[in-house]
Amino acid sequence: MQTVKLNNGVEVPILGFGTFQITDSKEAEQAVIDAIKAGYRHIDTAQSYMNEEAVGKGIANSGVAREEIFLTTKIWVENVSYDGVMASFQRSLDRLGVDYVDLLLLHQPYNDVYGAWRAMEELQADGKIKAIGISNFAVDRAVDLAEFNKVTPQVDQIEINPFQQQAENIAALKEEGIMVEAWAPFAEGKNGIFQNEILTTIGNKYGKSVAQVIVRWLVEQDIIVLTKSVNPDRMAQNLDIFDFSLTDEDKAQIATLNAGASQFFSHADPAMIKWMAGRRMDV
Ligand SMILES: NC(=O)c1ccc[n+]([C@@H]2O[C@H](COP(=O)([O-])OP(=O)(O)OC[C@H]3O[C@@H](n4cnc5c(N)ncnc54)[C@H](OP(=O)(O)O)[C@@H]3O)[C@@H](O)[C@H]2O)c1
Repeated sequence: MQTVKLNNGVEVPILGFGTFQITDSKEAEQAVIDAIKAGYRHIDTAQSYMNEEAVGKGIANSGVAREEIFLTTKIWVENVSYDGVMASFQRSLDRLGVDYVDLLLLHQPYNDVYGAWRAMEELQADGKIKAIGISNFAVDRAVDLAEFNKVTPQVDQIEINPFQQQAENIAALKEEGIMVEAWAPFAEGKNGIFQNEILTTIGNKYGKSVAQVIVRWLVEQDIIVLTKSVNPDRMAQNLDIFDFSLTDEDKAQIATLNAGASQFFSHADPAMIKWMAGRRMDV
């Protein structure tokens, strides 16, 4: 598997397996086992996905050593403070059944991100986390965090898909040395993405699916791609993207699909911030 290097030298498999919305514990454990069997060595979960225990069991029962897997979890909003990170990170480790994670992210740019970041810096210095990062942070918030702390975030995990391409933000984050990860690369199927005519036509040229065209388009930008599927055939399909390349014309066609807006919600919407502030996920 192709890897990318973070600003602290940590290597990350460029394709990761996402576990959002796989809440049934048997299904989540099986999905992780199937994903590792398909070839994934990078698994993405979060406190708020309510499946850390099942994800940990899947890794433990996969037949692949823990050290071979790049494991990410995320701190939910209610725990974003110095004490909140210290206490809830230990709960995440316990639920996952591991003694370190490869990447810990602040899931959302809300609450006491400075206190939380200092706790993450300490945990990283203690060797309990290999890399630390943020998610859903706009570039200005990412730079602000980097400028007033010791460690520049190693990663920002943001929504990127053909309808929300984020080219300027990606370039600005990379300029700061922050690696970009794409969540919802398929926009969770919204807006007819799997039937999209432009993506289908490009895929047909190479004998590839719409999903494969999207993953390839992201990998060619050196973006880490997180895809979710509970179907072993689609898991394998989403990994099988290293035997073709997109032309400049293909990329120009994909550029026309950009709507320049989230397919879900704006992280600057006060109503969403209030909704997230009220969600208790680490129970
Ligand atoms: N940091 C954040 O705030 C944040 C937010 C959202 C997501 N994420 C992370 O990013 C990961 C990926 O995003 P996501 O799960 O929201 O959505 P996604 O990967 O864009 O889309 C998943 C959907 O696409 C379907 N699918 C997958 N591969 C397919 C294929 N080859 N052909 C047709 N359909 C396919 C899946 O169905 P089946 O399962 O039935 O195959 C599922 O319905 C998450 O799992 C999570 O780890 C992070």
